[in-house]
Amino acid sequence: MRTILAGNWKMNKDATEARALLTAVMGRSCKAPTGVEVVVAPPFPYLAMAVELAAVARDCGVVAKVAAQNCHHKENGAYTGEVSVPMLRSLGVDACLVAHSERRQYFGETYALAADKIHLLLQYGMEPILCCGEGQEERENGSFNAVVERQLRGALATVDRKDYARLVVAYEPVWAIGTGLTATPQQAQDMHAHIRGTLVRIGGEAAREVPVLYGGSCKPDNAEGLFNMPDINGGLIGGASLEADQFLALITAAGRAKQP
Ligand code: PGA
Repeated sequence: MRTILAGNWKMNKDATEARALLTAVMGRSCKAPTGVEVVVAPPFPYLAMAVELAAVARDCGVVAKVAAQNCHHKENGAYTGEVSVPMLRSLGVDACLVAHSERRQYFGETYALAADKIHLLLQYGMEPILCCGEGQEERENGSFNAVVERQLRGALATVDRKDYARLVVAYEPVWAIGTGLTATPQQAQDMHAHIRGTLVRIGGEAAREVPVLYGGSCKPDNAEGLFNMPDINGGLIGGASLEADQFLALITAAGRAKQP
């Protein structure tokens, strides 16, 4: 099973800061390889720079990938201001976040839309990083397992079984994103086991190997407990991916937890 540490920068950093952070992350992962796949998801204007700098880490054997934070669900056309999957692919971008809770919350994105994006990403040989997770109310009223299952079914209904090898799922409880609240390792493990079970019910045995990442206020001081859980295969990191020291500490923590 792959272990993946992905940094979602959201709408942060200017171009100079972006170059400095990418240089530090790629250069330092090179010096201390951990066996962890390192993914950076900077804003659109920095993707070409990220592809160029990720090559530095790849040259020294680190599996370093670049992800976009979003893509349009149509291949091309009159959609002013949007960015398409073929554009991303032609830049050398490897992956793309889909259905991040901030896209759902602020831009009204649905899992039907996510299904279209995933379809296109797979068609272009990219890796969708599908986000799922319940809100506070759903955690409190106990409907969280049903909610996440519905999200996954909505997004994955039409995915071909052979394409599960290129899928990544991130469980991000909405109540834990950017709030400083984290799911306990046991809460996260229970949900990750549920997600894995659901993926296998939808996609068959091939889906058992889909990496399931945890996201939601994951920081160096709480990561170890989470990464030690058997069904947690790494993290999708927001706030702590904006500081090289913290992001690198998380890469190290994931590598340590997942050593065979
Ligand atoms: P956070 O964000 O680590 O700042 O909570 C995680 C995410 O939204 O991907």
